[in-house]
Amino acid sequence: MSFDLSVIPNKNIIVAVTGGIAAYKSAILVRRLKDAGFNIRVVMTKGAQAFITPLTFQALSGNSVHTELLNPEAEAGMGHIELARWADLVLVAPASCDTLAKFAAGLADDLLSTLYLATKAPVWVAPAMNQQMWAAKATQRNLNTLVEDGVHVIMPDAGAQACGDIGLGRMPEPEELAYQVTEYFHKAQRTIAEKFGQLAGKHVVITAGPTRESIDPVRYISNHSTGKMGFSLAAACYSAGAKVTLIAGPVSLDTPNGVRRINVQSAVQMLDTSMQMLDEGCDIFIATAAVADYRVASVAEHKIKKSGDELNVSLVKNPDIVATIAQQAKRPFMVGFAAETRNVEEYAAGKLVAKKLDMIACNDVSRADIGFASDQNAMTVFFADHYQMQKRDLEKASKQEISQQLVDAIHDALNHTAEIEEDF
Ligand code: C5P
Repeated sequence: MSFDLSVIPNKNIIVAVTGGIAAYKSAILVRRLKDAGFNIRVVMTKGAQAFITPLTFQALSGNSVHTELLNPEAEAGMGHIELARWADLVLVAPASCDTLAKFAAGLADDLLSTLYLATKAPVWVAPAMNQQMWAAKATQRNLNTLVEDGVHVIMPDAGAQACGDIGLGRMPEPEELAYQVTEYFHKAQRTIAEKFGQLAGKHVVITAGPTRESIDPVRYISNHSTGKMGFSLAAACYSAGAKVTLIAGPVSLDTPNGVRRINVQSAVQMLDTSMQMLDEGCDIFIATAAVADYRVASVAEHKIKKSGDELNVSLVKNPDIVATIAQQAKRPFMVGFAAETRNVEEYAAGKLVAKKLDMIACNDVSRADIGFASDQNAMTVFFADHYQMQKRDLEKASKQEISQQLVDAIHDALNHTAEIEEDF
């Protein structure tokens, strides 16, 4: 199971623990959800406290645990109504027969049952019980009622039970539950981004990393590019609602969530794949790749043997990918990058014109604190003349923040074009 629990900012989850031996698994569940970046508050029923102590959950969640409904001291902290409003999701795990029955009947005689009635947040229950109790007509009837009421039921697993029985009733493993919760928020976020994101409805193609140009079957020419900028931009474009294809040279980076990745080696392969993307329909093309300027004229079929003091390898120029794409009839919005060690702005502005780009982001790679392998970057962005937009300085920030600022710049330029077109 892939376990990409990238941080989902500021989502609040109430983990409600009820009486059952599976309560010990809830401790790990809280830990996993915290690892994923969620804010966690734990509610425990009396039954739960017979199996595991509030102190355990306090330590794991980093918050005091809620156990009482009518305790003035507890209510003075975060009362049950505030708790109900605070939650983006209520996850009852394990959910006992008794809790399911209370929810189904609408009782409100303890903190959890009251919270259930008072919250607008989605409620998920992970029932865990003896297989006979699970199969009991009353339990199934209550579950049906809960499903009708909009509660999401996480089906129990089958297997050996703590009581010695074998059958349905085991709570799924904490990792599995944490994964489902994270997926739920990812999907919800994605639905919003696809509707309202800055790049909603756009297909963005990004080249990233170095290219690798073979000399013979074991040697190659390449460069130090790590691909971090392109990968970070791919994540930012995806978060902005775009469909993203990342054409990656050889790098050792994980593919950002939701991004389609196509691995290539050489500049020629990178160009071929980029051209295929135009056929698929591409709205924005971002060239972050550090493409090798030259490739070996004729790659040796066998390993070149050591001989003599010198080895001459003849090189030929590689195609300019971004410039080639910019010349096509179905031309996307074109974004280039320029890494320079001197006359940074002058060279970058020149490339903007020469390669017929819409936008170029340049940085000074002679600075050790930014650029290539660094996690930080600082850039200046230029727009083609017809946009009538001022250049933008992006202050030194993480590549993640710089990526968001670049998405803003692309979005602004695209909207600016729309405005200019409307004026005519
Ligand atoms: O000419 P230079 O390599 O400095 O230009 C950098 C920009 O052009 C980057 O956006 C890079 O990805 C792109 N480029 C390209 N194909 C090449 C060389 C550069 O797409 N062969």
